[in-house]
Parts: sequence; structure tokens; C-alpha cells
Amino acid sequence: MTTLLRNIGELVTNDPRWGDRFGILHDAALEWSEGVVTWVGSDSDAQSRVSNATEVLDAEGRAVIPGFVDSHTHIAFAGERSLEFAARMAGTAYSAGGINTTDAATRAATDDELRELIGGRISEMRAQGTTTVEVKTGYGLTIEHEVRLARIAREFTDHVTFLGAHVVPEEYVGRTDDYVDLVCGEMLDAVDSFVTAIDVFCEDGAFSVDQSRRILEAGVKRGLRTHIHAAQLGSSTSVQMAVESGVASIDHGTFVTDVDVHALCKSGAVLTLLPGSDFSTRQPYPDARRFIDAGVTVALATNCNPGSSYTTSMAFCIAIAVREMGMTPSEALWSATKGGSISLGSPLLGNFEVGSLAHIVELDAPNHIHLAYRPGVNLVRTVWG
Ligand code: NIG
Repeated sequence: MTTLLRNIGELVTNDPRWGDRFGILHDAALEWSEGVVTWVGSDSDAQSRVSNATEVLDAEGRAVIPGFVDSHTHIAFAGERSLEFAARMAGTAYSAGGINTTDAATRAATDDELRELIGGRISEMRAQGTTTVEVKTGYGLTIEHEVRLARIAREFTDHVTFLGAHVVPEEYVGRTDDYVDLVCGEMLDAVDSFVTAIDVFCEDGAFSVDQSRRILEAGVKRGLRTHIHAAQLGSSTSVQMAVESGVASIDHGTFVTDVDVHALCKSGAVLTLLPGSDFSTRQPYPDARRFIDAGVTVALATNCNPGSSYTTSMAFCIAIAVREMGMTPSEALWSATKGGSISLGSPLLGNFEVGSLAHIVELDAPNHIHLAYRPGVNLVRTVWG
């Protein structure tokens, strides 16, 4: 089946062959077949494609963008922590310790309950234009429960990340190094067949820089992609260590230093900013302008989790990034699509060129600027792919 979508008011391709890296076309058309983009061009040139198409659709001048790539989520959890959020809004600081609360609720849930929760969150995301979701484990923290989360998450997405090193579970308090041994050894062995990447929360109250290095190295030995939660609550040498170890992305980066920026530029690692967390933890927003101007590749993701960022909306993150972090609407959209695909190492996602995956979102808006200009409004009209 070949579909030709015509009369697109604005088509964001993220393909630099159309000018700059955003590759924005006006009065455009897009063709796809069996889930793959087969043609991109102007609507007038699309006339010659009509006879090839099984169906021809009319976008009536609306904007069309690549589906969002949400490259950092923790949606494999049960329970919620709204009271913790309310306490924070009254002045209590965010700390890593709340993860254990969700850990207990998640361990208590059945497989089917977890399936329903994860599936429900993915549906909520899709209705808001997200077509690719990375899911981390990290609310199990025993071999049995981390494997369970990885296995169930894998039923929903190809992008499952092992985050056994999310926090030290209560059973291991005072024995963090023993827990790191478990994560790098038996636990990693057990989850290996379900995951494509490994991650670690490197922060006071979670894992030290040296412990995090061991975890990343264990992942590299397995051929996994590596990511790190770093500079979320303060600065340390975590970003430099991670860059030296060859991470695909540094996530959070609220307290990234100039030395870190330099290291990031040299390495090409992605800096994934998570504005929903800074919103929900009342932290300062990182200055994305500073990173982009320095040449860092910036991605945006929701970080959907019950503690620091309970949102499934990439558009909400785009709106914050534009209003509070110095990004232009085009930069924010690029980061929420192509930036995420680079972080995940999936070049066929996040853009429209011949051969890209046909993950297509039609907005009820004339251009992508509306994503930030109309905050809190779900502008998604149709999702394909
Ligand atoms: O990315 N920083 C670590 N993990 C999550 C928070 C998880 C939680 O508080 O439950 C984050 O913010």
C-alpha cells in the first residue's frame, strides 16, 4: 500500500539537503509505502506520483513533522508520588531516595498490571505524537524484578535500557559496592537478552563517579549502548568520565560546567535535556542556547517517571525548552525528533528522507511553531507509523 499525503502547508524533514538542518518545506507532499518513506518533495511535483499511490490524502495546509522520539523514559513502574510533588512545591528538595518508594510499588504489581500501565502510557504518548519510546528498567532492583521489567518493556519497544543502577535498594544500604558487583555481573547477565543499552544514575545518594564508570564499562564489554544520568542535582566529574568512556548520551545536564561542554563537543556525545524534571523539581533550567552555540548535539525527552517528571508530553518539553532554555521552536523540534534518534543510535528515525521510517505526525496547526506557541494543547491530529 502506498500513501501520498498532499497539500502539506509545512513539512519539517530534518533533512539538511533541503537547506539547513531543519529542512523545512512549504507546500509539500510526502509518500510512504510499507512503513518506509519513498518520496519527499513539493506538492506541484507530487502530481507525477498520484498514479503510483494506493491512496491520496489531503493535509489541507496543515503542518507535518516526524514522530517524536522520546529517548529517555522510566515508564515501567507502578504507583504514584503526588504527595512528594506537593511537598516539593512547598519547599522540600528532590532526592534520589524516592525511587525506593516506586520500587516497592512496582515489585508488588503483577505482570499484567505492569503491562497495562506501560501500554497505557505508550498510548497516551502516541496520542500526543510520540512514535518511538525508550524505556528504562530501574524500579525492580533485584535480578527477578529487573528481568521482569526488561522483558515486559520489550513487548512494547525495541529500545529497552537496563538501569539496575538507579539507586541502591534498601537490602543493600551500606553495601553499595556489593550492589554494583551484582549489577555488573549476575543482573546484567540476566537482562542481557532484553536490553540494547545500559544506564546509571551518577549523583549523590545514588552512585559515585567510580561506581558509575564500572557500570558503563560492564555495558561496553557486552556491546551495549551506554547512557548516564549526570549533572542532574549538582556538578561533578561525572560528565567528563562518561564522555571518556564513550557514552552515547549524557542525560539531565542541568549543572553542566564549561569543562563538560568542551568535553561533550570533542566527543560528539548527545546531551539529552529533560525539562519536565527541572519543572517538577523546581530546579533552574539549563541554558540550551549555551550548549547549542558551543556545538553540542542536544536532544529533548520527557523523562516520564513518577518522581521527577510525570509527563508523557514531548510538546510540553518543547514549550519549556523554547520559553525557558533559549531554544528556537525549530531547534526544540529537531532535538525532540532527530536528537532523540541520534541518542538511540537509530538513523532511520526522526527525519523524512527516502528510506526513513514513516513515523509521521500531522498537526492541527499551520506550522511547528504552534507546539510552543500553544502550550498545554494537544495539536496532534493524525499519527502514522
Ligand atoms: O531521571 N534521576 C533518576 N531517575 C529519575 C527519577 C526517578 C524517580 O525519582 O523515581 C530521573 O529524574
